[in-house]
Amino acid sequence: MKTYLVTGGAGFIGANFVHYMLNKYSDIKIINLDKLTYAGNLENLKDVKTNYNYTFACGDICDKELVEKLFEGNDIDYVVNFAAESHVDRSIKEPEIFVKTNVLGTVNILNVAKNSWEIKGGFKEGKKFMQVSTDEVYGSLGDTGFFLETTPIDPHSPYSASKTGADLMVKAYYDTYKMPVNITRCSNNYGPYQFPEKLIPLLINNCLNHKNLPVYGDGMNIRDWLYVEDHCKAINMVINGGRLGEVYNVGGHNERTNMQIVKTVINYINENVDKEVTEKLIRYVEDRLGHDKRYGIDPSKIKEELGWYPETTFEVGIKKTIRWNLDNKEWMDNITSGEYQNYYDNMYQNK
Ligand code: NAD
Ligand code: DAU
Repeated sequence: MKTYLVTGGAGFIGANFVHYMLNKYSDIKIINLDKLTYAGNLENLKDVKTNYNYTFACGDICDKELVEKLFEGNDIDYVVNFAAESHVDRSIKEPEIFVKTNVLGTVNILNVAKNSWEIKGGFKEGKKFMQVSTDEVYGSLGDTGFFLETTPIDPHSPYSASKTGADLMVKAYYDTYKMPVNITRCSNNYGPYQFPEKLIPLLINNCLNHKNLPVYGDGMNIRDWLYVEDHCKAINMVINGGRLGEVYNVGGHNERTNMQIVKTVINYINENVDKEVTEKLIRYVEDRLGHDKRYGIDPSKIKEELGWYPETTFEVGIKKTIRWNLDNKEWMDNITSGEYQNYYDNMYQNK
């Protein structure tokens, strides 16, 4: 029975990963270490709360004693490190916490895992540290080309710089100690449980509440969208088959301008839910500082080496995501009636 230490499992992708793994395997144990920041929500995991194979540990990945205790009390085989401050806009306002959690927190768990797994002349069999990273470490593309694993890293925002710092430490543990690690770099995810500060759930929530839809700059920036379950599948494949020390890019060739995303959400809600939702809600607002123009992943390596492919097209995934938000209105209302609402009001009051 393999034991996974999943960090940040109460957030968007982490919660989807916990569900994905517990549905797929009945013979694994998952320990979810999450600090429950504004982005962590145990509601995301209520379906698995009583699952015998799942345990929740509330705490910080920077807490050495706590992480050591988890390793001492459990024979952990895999660390899957999702825990992070994940929102670019917040990183522009408050960069320090991004360095603390994303860089120092990652180094802390890397180090505790190394101390626990190291044996004379190497590491115990079958262990792996899986770092969940982002395409943003590569910076921004022009009109052509894609990010390859060999593309030089060139992060721009404090968020992407902190994720790059973490990636480099993970690489250093492989290069120096030969610690068994992998890094995945995925494009923009969307799907159930995504916190509504991110573009797609923000648009859905605002449409349903007849609020303005803030579009940064000219709305022509491009992101490469992947349904979250396809990302979870990729991470699992890399854990099982990824060559040690390697980076794998994950993305499904689904590039859209932000304005295309805005119109897709408006049209679906207009046609299926509420005729009053129209393009009149769109508001062009001040651009994000240092706004990366375009992201686009070349996923050839993970496809060719591990046979990964995305199962959900954008057309299907976006409908599923809007439906999920409609069916879980209470989940969204609980979030937006709390701290997030103040953040949102502060962010957009002058725009
Ligand atoms: P999220 O913000 O929804 O969730 C982050 C989770 O980490 C939360 O549950 C939070 O409570 C927890 N956390 C934060 N600081 C912590 C700490 N110090 N100790 C323990 N737990 C802590 O983020 P997400 O969108 O689910 O992203 C998860 C990971 O995937 C991140 O590492 C992110 O960089 C990466 N990623 C995200 C995307 C995307 O599109 N969302 C794409 C590629 C990679
Ligand atoms: O590429 C992977 C990254 O994708 C992850 O590493 C990050 O954790 C994740 O947050 C996401 O980063 P982005 O900055 O691309 O996502 P966000 O949803 O914040 O913004 C998507 C695009 O939409 C971006 O070009 C900015 C724009 N935008 C965003 C918001 C919140 C708007 O135009 N209006 C908005 O209100």
